[in-house]
This record gives sequence, structure tokens and C-alpha cells, in this order.
Amino acid sequence: MLKPEEQQEIERELERYRDRRALCIEGLKIVQKHRGWISDEALADLGEFLGMTVEEIDGVATFYNLIYRRPVGRHVILVCDSVSCWIRGYEGLRDYLRSKLGLAMGETTPDNRFTLLPIVCLGACGSAPAMMVDNDLHVNLDPEKIDRILENYK
Ligand code: FES
Repeated sequence: MLKPEEQQEIERELERYRDRRALCIEGLKIVQKHRGWISDEALADLGEFLGMTVEEIDGVATFYNLIYRRPVGRHVILVCDSVSCWIRGYEGLRDYLRSKLGLAMGETTPDNRFTLLPIVCLGACGSAPAMMVDNDLHVNLDPEKIDRILENYK
């Protein structure tokens, strides 16, 4: 069952949608905001509320790469590995982040502070290389800039 605060937020969104099922993505984002990630239980809770099967909701959840079906840290670092970022130094920055955080892609730091994930183009190709931390886009990256940026996420 959805938590009361999750249900209230989703119901507020209902005013903008005619069909409960159209709220699927927004509902997933709201539940993820409250629970940190989308567990099987969360899928079932949301499905019950929206009148959708777990399979239907999971199909949406696994399609969108900003919905996490596994636990993640307090902050998620999404490193763009698409062509412009690749050309402008993605591999070096990815290796720098892996070394700095002691992680492979897909892993979370032991203190649960950061999860490191790849992502396709963030739409900032003209300012590549780029990454997103939580909902914040960061561009024109180099190791020094990455150090300064990560200091802001505790
Ligand atoms: Fe990285 Fe577009 S290729 S932002």
C-alpha cells in the first residue's frame, strides 16, 4: 500500500491527467523520491493504486533509466557515455571517478553516499563531457571540477 504522503502527491498530479494509468511515470518518480528506489513491493503498491499490473508498471520502470530498480546511494552520479562526451574525454573522467570513489560502474560507496552509473546523452553535447548528480547537470568537466562538484553532495 502506498504511504499517505505518496498517495497525496500522486493524487495532486491526477488533476493534470484524465487516466490514472497515465500517471505511471510520475507515480514512479514520486515513490522513488520517498523510498530511494523502486522495489518489487513499491511496484505492487503503485500498481494497486493506478489499476495496473506489476508487469505493466515494471515495463515502464525498466524502460526509463532514471527509475532505479535496485537500491542506490543518497546521490546518483550519471556519467554520459555517448558520442560527444566520448570524444571529449569520457573514458578519462569515468576512470577518474572510479578511482576517486573506489567503485566500478553500477556500484555504491560503502557509506551509501554515491552510486555511479552510465547514461546516454544528457543533451549537453556542446558542453561535453557531462554528468548529472541527482537532478543537477554539470558540464565541461575535468578532474578538478569534479572534485569541487562532489563536495556539494554529502
Ligand atoms: Fe554527452 Fe550528449 S553526448 S551530453
